[in-house]
Amino acid sequence: MKRVAVLMVWLWPTCSITWAQQPVVAEHAMVVSAREEASAIGAEILRKGGNAFDAMVATELALAVAYPYAGNIGGGGFMVYRKADGETGALDYREKAPMGATKDMYLDDSGHVIPGLSTEGALAVGVPGTVAGVFAVHERFGKLPMQDIMAPVIALAEKGVVVTAGQEKQLSTYREAIIKISGSATGLAKVYHQGDTIRYPALANTLRRILRNGRDEFYKGETARSIAGFIQKNGGIITLEDLGRYEVRWRRPVFFDYKDLRIISMSPPSSGGITLAQIMTMIAPYPLSRYGHNSQATIQVLTEAERRAYADRNYFLGDPDFTVIPYATLLSKNYLRRRMKSFSPDKATPSSTVSHGQVTISESNETTHYSIVDQDGNAVAVTTTLNGAFGSKLYSDELGFFFNNEMDDFSAKPGEPNSYGLIGAEANSIAPQKRMLSSMTPTIVEKQGRLFMVLGTPGGSTIITSVLQVILNVREFGMNIQEAVNAPRFHHQWLPDEVLFEPGKFPQHILQSLTGKGYHVNEQSAPVIGKVDAILINSQGKREGGADCRGDDKAVGY
Ligand code: DON
Repeated sequence: MKRVAVLMVWLWPTCSITWAQQPVVAEHAMVVSAREEASAIGAEILRKGGNAFDAMVATELALAVAYPYAGNIGGGGFMVYRKADGETGALDYREKAPMGATKDMYLDDSGHVIPGLSTEGALAVGVPGTVAGVFAVHERFGKLPMQDIMAPVIALAEKGVVVTAGQEKQLSTYREAIIKISGSATGLAKVYHQGDTIRYPALANTLRRILRNGRDEFYKGETARSIAGFIQKNGGIITLEDLGRYEVRWRRPVFFDYKDLRIISMSPPSSGGITLAQIMTMIAPYPLSRYGHNSQATIQVLTEAERRAYADRNYFLGDPDFTVIPYATLLSKNYLRRRMKSFSPDKATPSSTVSHGQVTISESNETTHYSIVDQDGNAVAVTTTLNGAFGSKLYSDELGFFFNNEMDDFSAKPGEPNSYGLIGAEANSIAPQKRMLSSMTPTIVEKQGRLFMVLGTPGGSTIITSVLQVILNVREFGMNIQEAVNAPRFHHQWLPDEVLFEPGKFPQHILQSLTGKGYHVNEQSAPVIGKVDAILINSQGKREGGADCRGDDKAVGY
């Protein structure tokens, strides 16, 4: 089987020991996101009397301005919500394959995957869902007029955003890749340094047109015509009809219990909720708090559950509108306990005996997650993405934004790894109008029937295991929410058969002992695993924000 080159780019500092280990605490409401500017705009909407859904619209669009690395209007995402009255639901605004897409569109005549075709440039772009997503949220749940919500975002795009050290690194790391696809004249291809201000006048104009004409501006109006023309001129296949046909889907989230917690997470076409449910159900019988945080025994139990869950993920999961998913079996306690029967603490279970296939991992890419709780107790968890860093690297100077490369989340060929080393099966093969399988895991946790945690993260295939570890850090290991998001993480995904560890964060004797038991320890490939933004409701009902120290992330509340 073909091996994929390992390309890891260290874009985030690891957390220094001086990093705050105490959460930001707010009386009423809180937004935690990847950029302070976006959290502040979301929090301002809440302060003005908007609800969590208004703040979702504002934060999502503000991230498209302040965090073009992953924030977007050229991509898509998922929202899980829990209203103050306990009503829950989920919105799928994932991208869709264009109507001209075919199962073999990324293969050459001999049936081999053509490198780069599903990851760079116009052919990698799925029909974007973000604008439809925010309008659907606003229409169903919004309180404030769209004008009030979008005005500060448009003002931010005009005034500009100051480049952080992290953003300087992102832009310089991907400058060549952006130039290769979008040309050196493109705005974001310039050299920027920390402290510079980047203004986004073209994006401000696009947003202004969307505000004036509504959702259809992006899908049927002048903007739609510009998108279709631009994509086709660059060799892509998205048509005006594809845009016109795009629709979001309201979905029933995945629900499951872990001890005294009830967890509400994203359903297919994300694998997040089901895979998280499988892992947590498999590990529930083991006394993790007695084993200890990141102890060898804990690492083994989590790794073995992850191995079994990801094997199922890759085989069974895909767009539920196209694929029959055996939900009941995949989530059944009996089935999951049986899956763990082959686990022995003495020895790693080789992934080849859990299923078949040989692959390697994984490019470092980006997505972004934000968590919001408002003054009434409404909560939203949203993960949104362009897939790769700056998506397909295709940037429209006229419209002012990057397009996604989400098509790479499909299985271009059954058994071949995508850029996260994830291999897929028929369930996730490409078909016109189909949604590609995701790992995004926006999650809400209830305790004793009340809102307890809101969380999620970027990180491709490591999203699910990062969300898992943060919940366990709070529930099993007694951490506050800031400690829980900062704590070192590890990851396993069945294939490749290796366990990734954040480097230098785990005692060597544990890693050596794991190696002795047959685990393939890898401290090289993942300098950072996930970038979790979370809120916890404490016993006094206050909102505690945990913004991951691995990025520029920030909690803003009042
Ligand atoms: O939907 C997915 O699972 C991926 N497109 C997410 C990409 C991602 O998290 C990149 N971030 N590191």
